[in-house]
Amino acid sequence: MADPTPDLIPPSLAERLRAAHAVVVLTGAGISAESGIPTFRNPQNGLWANYRPEELATPQAFRANPRLVWDWYAWRRAAVATVLPNAGHRALVEIEARVPQFTLLTQNVDGLHQAAGSRRVIELHGNIRRVKCFDHGHPVESWPSTGALPPPCPICGSLLRPDVVWFGEQLPAAALEQAADAIRHCDLFLTIGTSLRVEPAASLPYAALEHGATVLILNQEVAPSTEPPLYGMNGPAGTLLPALVHAAWPDAPAVGDAHGA
Ligand code: OAD
Repeated sequence: MADPTPDLIPPSLAERLRAAHAVVVLTGAGISAESGIPTFRNPQNGLWANYRPEELATPQAFRANPRLVWDWYAWRRAAVATVLPNAGHRALVEIEARVPQFTLLTQNVDGLHQAAGSRRVIELHGNIRRVKCFDHGHPVESWPSTGALPPPCPICGSLLRPDVVWFGEQLPAAALEQAADAIRHCDLFLTIGTSLRVEPAASLPYAALEHGATVLILNQEVAPSTEPPLYGMNGPAGTLLPALVHAAWPDAPAVGDAHGA
């Protein structure tokens, strides 16, 4: 099949992807935007445009108004349950299948990478589909759908909360160690759909650059750059990632028009 988007992909980047031994990908909300999940900082429809994060995504907020925080996450959990992975997620599955070593670091809590079929996924900010208790972090699989909200932990009785990282909380240490290790050994680092405004994830592409990796930043605000070692691609991940895969491996099956977004 002829490449429908030949001008979008710097040929030297496609060559580096084809030759890469170890690829690390960092994703943010932008990769899920085409599945219908609002990004955080979009001024028109971002989640944070309607809700102030300090009111909802902090331990202090939960202590002050646990019901409000629980209900907000319940609404977001219901929203992610209705959406499907898009072509950008599927392109990353294809890359994982074709390179010797692959690690996908995600700031997203929606679980769409796993739903698309990505295998080696490290969740830096947790997962909205999981729940744990506030006092001890006991993981909880299910809770009664009626009664008090937030429900009590069946083990210790403290309130249940989403298993996501809130502002002011530490990222999971094991996830950070795995990320650092993968970055030390990677030759290509792809940064997809993140504004790189939240640490420590924001520093990871630059750590990869320091280790000598080629780095791509792909989002809808970056200045385009076609020169190694730091490439910039401005546009939708659901178009550009399949085009990158096709440029690197022209025989790869098309991922762009498979099934729903
Ligand atoms: P942001 O909302 O800050 O940034 C989304 C990025 O995706 C922007 O750079 C957009 O240009 C880009 N974008 C939007 N649509 C896109 C598309 N179709 N294709 C490619 N790029 C697109 O979201 P994050 O960077 O993920 O943390 O935010 C980082 C963290 O801030 C989140 O994980 C969350 C939030 O506070 C926690 O909840 C702990």
